[in-house]
Amino acid sequence: MTEEERTTPPKKPAGRRSQGILPAIIVAVIALAAAGVLIGFAAGHYTNRTTTLTTTSAAPAVPSTSQQTTAASVTPSVAAGAHTFVQFACAQCHGDRGRGGVSPFVPALSSIKTSLTVAQLEQIINHGLGESANPKKPYMPVWGEVISKTQVHDLVAYIRAGLPAVGDTQPVPVPAGQGAAVAGAALYVKYGCINCHGPNGLGGVPNPLSPDKTIPVLSGQGFRQQFNTDAKIAAVILSGSVIGKAPIVSMPHWGGIIPDAQLQELVAYLKTLK
Ligand code: HEC
Ligand code: HEC
Repeated sequence: MTEEERTTPPKKPAGRRSQGILPAIIVAVIALAAAGVLIGFAAGHYTNRTTTLTTTSAAPAVPSTSQQTTAASVTPSVAAGAHTFVQFACAQCHGDRGRGGVSPFVPALSSIKTSLTVAQLEQIINHGLGESANPKKPYMPVWGEVISKTQVHDLVAYIRAGLPAVGDTQPVPVPAGQGAAVAGAALYVKYGCINCHGPNGLGGVPNPLSPDKTIPVLSGQGFRQQFNTDAKIAAVILSGSVIGKAPIVSMPHWGGIIPDAQLQELVAYLKTLK
């Protein structure tokens, strides 16, 4: 525009002058539009930057607190135990940090500390406790074939340390309002089904002393034929099995632990599998 003004002769004939208004308006409109786009872009860009800045400034605060907790007060073994406690769903039966409150049949672990020896705790975790045929009464599952020696060692260290708070150990969140199968997929991880039945129910976890030497798959033709109704799937999850004494891994009784609505979500998820 400035260049055009400079190159425009000072004295213009009236006709040419009015002719020049339209292009000037068009140029002005284009310029305004361009400015608008620029402002829009800048605004979007600035918003993005603000978000990024907020995230960066907020992020270090949380991990550094939990890192401090972990670094200052617990050993790596205790920290690993806290994660294993959530991964194997000990927390779903014994409560968050073993503080109980889930079922009258499942004791809190937070008062054990050193009242049980390392050997006693390892024995209970590896071989289970109170196996019961009563489907309404949960028992302590046999974990020996499923959990490694190191993991048992870490769990014992965590329990004997009094199950302290350790950062970033929250169980997987269960999405709400996204359908039963989506919630069920998260519950399959949250309740530790995945540790025994494998990702996607594909199995492959050994159970050497059981008749078929493996923990069953929850997918495929055989499973679908045997468990051909929702009710049958729900029933076996609730009542579990006692397929023999320790050290045979049995299906835990989830009756009294998993609420009905979540049970239906687990069934919906299992029906989406191969
Ligand atoms: C399906 C529910 C369930 C799950 C999952 C579970 N437990 Fe247990 N646990 C029990 C029940 C029930 C008892 C009580 C058994 C009894 O005394 O008859 C128990 C007992 C125990 C005891 C003995 C407590 C005491 O005071 O005698 C320990 C230790 C223990 N569980 C640790 C664990 C750990 C570690 C995990 C995870 C690897 C775990 N539990 C997972 C149900 C469960
Ligand atoms: C400690 C290991 C363990 C965990 C954890 C576990 N299961 Fe099982 N599950 C088993 C075993 C072992 C069997 C086989 C029982 C039998 O043959 O009587 C079984 C059987 C089943 C069956 C029947 C399949 C069949 O072919 O007999 C279903 C369904 C099932 N489990 C679902 C689940 C769900 C859902 C979860 C999580 C809420 C879960 N299981 C957690 C060990 C486990």
